[in-house]
Amino acid sequence: MSSRTIPATLIAGDGIGPEIMESVIEILDAVGAPFAWEKHLAGMAGVDAVNDPLPKETIESIRRTGLALKGPLTTPVGGGFKSINVTLRQEFGLYANLRPTKTIIPGGRYEDIDLVIVRENLEGYYAALEHTVPANGDPKGMALSGGYVTRQECDRIVRFAFDYAVKNNRKKVTLVHKANIIKQMSGMFLEEGRKVAEEYKGRVEVDESIVDACAMRLVTNPWQFDVIVTTNLFGDILSDQTAGLVGGLGMAPGANISDKAAVFEAVHGSAPDIAGKGLANPLALLLAAVMMLRHIGRQDLAERIDAAINSVITSGKVRTRDLGGQAGTKDLTAALKQALN
Ligand code: NAI
Repeated sequence: MSSRTIPATLIAGDGIGPEIMESVIEILDAVGAPFAWEKHLAGMAGVDAVNDPLPKETIESIRRTGLALKGPLTTPVGGGFKSINVTLRQEFGLYANLRPTKTIIPGGRYEDIDLVIVRENLEGYYAALEHTVPANGDPKGMALSGGYVTRQECDRIVRFAFDYAVKNNRKKVTLVHKANIIKQMSGMFLEEGRKVAEEYKGRVEVDESIVDACAMRLVTNPWQFDVIVTTNLFGDILSDQTAGLVGGLGMAPGANISDKAAVFEAVHGSAPDIAGKGLANPLALLLAAVMMLRHIGRQDLAERIDAAINSVITSGKVRTRDLGGQAGTKDLTAALKQALN
């Protein structure tokens, strides 16, 4: 077993977070992953313990380690505190959200899916430029939401996607936009994207799609996609859609990356409907931990865990309810540990 030499921040999160994190840590420990965890709070767990959804110790830890594994965090709907996920992205400039989708469960509606969504994480409509104004006799009768993109950020995110394609032997990048209607904001993304694509000519193929058409193409023929790069809101929606192609949110990992830090997480939320019941599927968070192992150059450990996931899920004997089985979180964890070579 290797020694724990790489400091990393660990945030168990809310709802099902602690249960799935326990499972993931058990498996990381079983392969001897070299992380020296700094355990910290965020989200409702932070509010409950220290009345702060993002304590400064948590931020300082991520600043020190530059590496974090994060469980889902509950965000109050409507009022309450701002999404901690969004705040973390802004604090560490985590501009690139990488969301891979790969078929693991055989016999589903879509076999052999293998695509990646690169979502811009800081701008667009998630900039939270929101306010209300009077309308129809109601002082808050109209709600306004503003989005923005910058030329620099459009260039950076599309470049990230093309670089990712080159490094990971991917053949094609699709620029997804709505420049026909949102002519300035989405138009700038497309314009900058085309410029970047030009630099990769001959190495990576470029393709373009309007977001609504892309949503349809993802259902009719998802195999035509390889890497998709798009702005914040479109990326958020399309990545849930692609998760649906391969068995749902329980199988979808993600990474938030900048040159300052990398935060790995599941795409799904805190699933309050099943929290504390021992039913949650830990695979999305485990797949995020696998991405984290690759990020630190431990392909060997990543491959061992990937192989165990494949063998357990393919055999079909131990699956959680969201995947059509009867197993609980602990049953799946035990089966995965047993399948590790
Ligand atoms: P959700 O992803 O938590 O749940 C949607 C549905 O998927 C639920 O039926 C849930 O039981 C199921 N589900 C999700 N993860 C699962 C898993 N691992 N195993 C089995 N079933 C699973 O989305 P929802 O309900 O809209 O959001 C709940 C809370 O999570 C909200 O406060 C939201 O803001 C937050 N959230 C946090 C995210 C993050 O921290 N990255 C991402 C998305 C939502």
